[in-house]
Amino acid sequence: MLNKLLFHHFPNVKSWLTRLQYEMISTLDKDRNAIFMNFGYTSHHKGHDPLPLSVEDEIHRYPLQLYHHVAKSIDWSGRDALEVSSGRGGGANFIMRHFKPKSYTGVDFSTRAIEFCRSHYKLDGLKFHHGNAEALTFPDNSFDVVMNVEASLYYPNITKFFEHVRRVLRQDGYFLYTDLRYEEKVEIWHAQLKAMGLKLIKEEDITDNVLKAVELDRERRIQLVDKYVPVVLRKAFYHFAGIKTDSPQDTPHLDNRKYWYFVLQKA
Ligand SMILES: C[S@@+](CC[C@H](N)C(=O)[O-])C[C@H]1O[C@@H](n2cnc3c(N)ncnc32)[C@H](O)[C@@H]1O
Repeated sequence: MLNKLLFHHFPNVKSWLTRLQYEMISTLDKDRNAIFMNFGYTSHHKGHDPLPLSVEDEIHRYPLQLYHHVAKSIDWSGRDALEVSSGRGGGANFIMRHFKPKSYTGVDFSTRAIEFCRSHYKLDGLKFHHGNAEALTFPDNSFDVVMNVEASLYYPNITKFFEHVRRVLRQDGYFLYTDLRYEEKVEIWHAQLKAMGLKLIKEEDITDNVLKAVELDRERRIQLVDKYVPVVLRKAFYHFAGIKTDSPQDTPHLDNRKYWYFVLQKA
């Protein structure tokens, strides 16, 4: 309820609290286990084969599959990519290894997350910069791909972010985008996205896939919170992670929000 009130009426306060929250996650995660911070994705329950993963990636299967689902419809070879709000870099590192773009630049407004990424990932072409989604400092026409995963809900002015995406994309470049919104805000969000003037290639409501992923990933999420978060903050963090802990059967929730995925092109 408080969360919704802040999102709707005080977006700048919400953005400031978000930054504190993500700085805190980087401080709490001393063992460097929380390299993804999204709800995840699965399509196993709809008859699709699971993505083959290395032993090291398996623990991050569901959040990693969200990146894979968003990234899989384009050819990445020779591309320069930008990820806005790359968090703790798990997705950037996976895309670099799996899809092999020429370069991949992650940007986030959490200073600690960027410090973590710079010290943790060492791949040629993978870079991390501190920056704000609404004030990107890259020159016009500098990337072939812009990725954005579960972050734009926190931006106080989404239109400014979309303007920057359009500006930094090269001609024919792709905007690969996924996020969630309260049900009553979905229509206006779609209208804002379409007003960007990019060509819509694909859009999909993936709420069921995300909820199923939270359910399948429940135990790992509970263990992460229990290991790193002080007892007094745990309830808030369980909620933040999409789980309730009143009984083992509690169904996952997205707080009445809908999760969508889009592929757009600057054509
Ligand atoms: C839910 S996390 C997702 C991180 C990453 N995309 C992932 O899936 O693991 C949201 C991220 O958005 C970042 N963020 C929120 N507002 C931002 C802004 N205005 N500019 C840049 N990053 C922002 C936060 O610091 C956080 O890392």
